[in-house]
Amino acid sequence: MLTIIESINLSEKYLKERGISEPRINAEIMLAEILSCKRLDLYLRFDRPLKEDERLKYREFLSRRGNNEPLQYILNKTEFYGLEFYVDENVLIPRPDTEILVEEIIERFSEIKTEIKILDVGTGSGNIAVALAKNIPSAKIAAIDVSEKALQIAERNAEANQTAGVDFKLVDIFNSSGEIETHNFDVIVSNPPYISKNNLEELEKEVKEREPLNALTDGGNGLSFYERICEIGKTALNENGLLFFEIEKDAEEKIGSIMQNHGYKEIETKKDFAGITRIIWGKNK
Ligand SMILES: C[S@@+](CC[C@H](N)C(=O)[O-])C[C@H]1O[C@@H](n2cnc3c(N)ncnc32)[C@H](O)[C@@H]1O
Repeated sequence: MLTIIESINLSEKYLKERGISEPRINAEIMLAEILSCKRLDLYLRFDRPLKEDERLKYREFLSRRGNNEPLQYILNKTEFYGLEFYVDENVLIPRPDTEILVEEIIERFSEIKTEIKILDVGTGSGNIAVALAKNIPSAKIAAIDVSEKALQIAERNAEANQTAGVDFKLVDIFNSSGEIETHNFDVIVSNPPYISKNNLEELEKEVKEREPLNALTDGGNGLSFYERICEIGKTALNENGLLFFEIEKDAEEKIGSIMQNHGYKEIETKKDFAGITRIIWGKNK
């Protein structure tokens, strides 16, 4: 029977050979999950042998990780804005970059007492909608997605995080027939599929081969969602309503001019800690 430390050492070697970055941390995280303990606690009982069921589970996790399946899908969880979210291959794994988007909206609206109507376009795991609902008590949120499976996961996450006030709805924004266009939203927020078809190849293998393609790319130049959401915002937003987007590196000029062309004013951007512009927003009218 292999002990904890022997298993970690062997697993690190296996994952390294398979080209997985940070192989030891990956090995430790998966074993800690199986043994329901913290990563560092593994070393407090390093000479404890693994039981047969633990060994088998660990072998399954390692084989999946060795095949480039993201750790978050294997563990069926990730953290976003201090909250835990269930994730699997049907949803994009929420990224820390998106927390900047959520934070900007929370800073503006968390103290406001009157109802704030928010639309989250392409909700995926529901991370944006749930984080906003948890932190803006007066928010009433509509969260839409084209994927039925993603919406089921988003609803599950809203329930697990005890979030009231989020209404999830199946909507294809390119084929919507009035479901969203005629509301009076105060805020529309979206982290849309923005990778262009040409740039898809440059993504890491575990992203492009494992995460849902329709969450990553629009299959074209990466701008069609921005165009469409700007168009929808013209009638779905209140007169001074705000439209917030996450954008990819170096895209602020392109997206800024799309917003201007649709008549959005007072356009602002914000950078992340690495100095990369990650979000852009503007006012309707
Ligand atoms: C980049 S992911 C964002 C997921 C999540 N909001 C986040 O920030 O991690 C984009 C989402 O848009 C959804 N989507 C793709 N095409 C759509 C469409 N035509 N109408 C509505 N949602 C769409 C995808 O299913 C996916 O969940």
